[in-house]
Amino acid sequence: MQHQVAVIGGDGIGPEIVREGCRVLDAAGERFGFDLAFTEFEIGADRYLETGVLLTEDDLAELGRFTAIYFGAIGDERVRPGILEKGILLALRFHFDQYVNLRPIRLLAGVSTPLANKGPADIDFVVVRENTEDFYVGIGSRFTGKRESKTLEVVRDLYNVKFGLDVETDADELAYQIGVVTRPGTERVIRYAFDLAGRRRGKLTSVDKANVLSDVYGLWREVFSEVTAGYPDLATEFNFVDAVTMWFVKNPEWFDVVVTPNMFGDIITDLGAMIQGGMGLAPGGNINPAGTSMFEPIHGSAPKYRGQGVANPMATIWAGSMLLDYLGEHEAAEGVLKALGQSILDGVVTRDMGGSARTSDVGDYVAAMIKRG
Ligand code: IPM
Ligand code: MN
Repeated sequence: MQHQVAVIGGDGIGPEIVREGCRVLDAAGERFGFDLAFTEFEIGADRYLETGVLLTEDDLAELGRFTAIYFGAIGDERVRPGILEKGILLALRFHFDQYVNLRPIRLLAGVSTPLANKGPADIDFVVVRENTEDFYVGIGSRFTGKRESKTLEVVRDLYNVKFGLDVETDADELAYQIGVVTRPGTERVIRYAFDLAGRRRGKLTSVDKANVLSDVYGLWREVFSEVTAGYPDLATEFNFVDAVTMWFVKNPEWFDVVVTPNMFGDIITDLGAMIQGGMGLAPGGNINPAGTSMFEPIHGSAPKYRGQGVANPMATIWAGSMLLDYLGEHEAAEGVLKALGQSILDGVVTRDMGGSARTSDVGDYVAAMIKRG
C-alpha cells in the first residue's frame, strides 16, 4: 500500500519540524507495512517575497490530488501579519472545505500541566472547531469618509453569500467585519461532533456567546438543539465561551467533545494547548471528511528559532499521527502516539519542555521507538 502525502513546510521553524514528522511517519510505514510518498510544495514567505504569489491555481489543483497535506507553519517577520495567514493557511482551509478543525486536548503521561492536582485522566477531550465560517470569512471594511457602499462576498462549495452594504456615519473613522453562520455550515460540523462524541464518552458541549451575539450564535444554538434530538443517548450542554475558559482550568475532566464556532475555537484551543503541556505539544487536523484534509501543529512559525535546531517537533509528530489515522492507518497512528509518549517518559524532549534534546534528536528517538514497537 502506498499513500501520497503533500508536504508544505512553510515558514520559520515549519520546514524543520515537518521534516522530523516525515521521518517519523516513514518509520511508522516501515514498521506497519505501508509506504509513504511525500511531495513537497514550496509555498510560503520566501516564494511570496520573491514572486508576490501566495497560492496559485496550479498549487490548488496539484494539492487537490492528495487526500492528506502535512503542513508545518506559516508566518514570517518580513511580511505584514495577516497576508500569509489569510492568503495561504485560511485559503487552503476554505478552498478544500475543511470544515472541521479537530484539536485533541490530551495530557500525556509525564507531561507537566499548570493545573494543580490534574493528571492525564482529567485532561482528555477534543475540540471540534468550525473551520470555514464565523468572523473568519474575511469580509469587512474600514473607511474615513462619511459613507461607503460595498459588495462583500463569501464563495463556498456549500453556498455563496453576497452582502450589498451602504454605510453612513459621522464618526471620524469606522471599521466593521461581518461574521457569517449558516444552517448547513453549522449543521455539518455539529453532526461531526455528535458522531465523535458517540465514539468517545458520549458527552458534547456546545460553546457560543448566544447571550450577546444572538443572531449568529442564536442560529448556532438553534441548530445544535435540533441536531441533539437525533442523538437521545448522548449528554449535551451549552457553555458560554467566557465561562468555558474558566471550566477548562477548573474542571477539565467534565469535557469529552466540545464543538464551537471558528473564532472561539481558535481562542480556547490555545488555552487547551497550555493545559495539555504547552504549544509545543498541541496538534490539529483540518478535515474535510470527503476531500483533502490538512494536518498541522496549532502553534505558529516562531521565526526567531528558525534554523537553530531547537524547535519542538512533537505537535507536528502528533499531527502526523492524526494524518495516519485519517488515511486509515489506525494501528500506525497509535504507534506514533505511543512512541511520542515514550520519548516524553524517557526525557527526550526539547528545551521548552525542560529537556536538552534537539529537534532532530526527538525525531530520531520517536522513529526508533516506533521501530522497536
Ligand atoms: C490557528 C492559527 C490560525 C487561525 C491563524 C494563523 C490564521 O491561529 O490555526 O489556530 O487563527 O486559525
Ligand atoms: Mn490559533
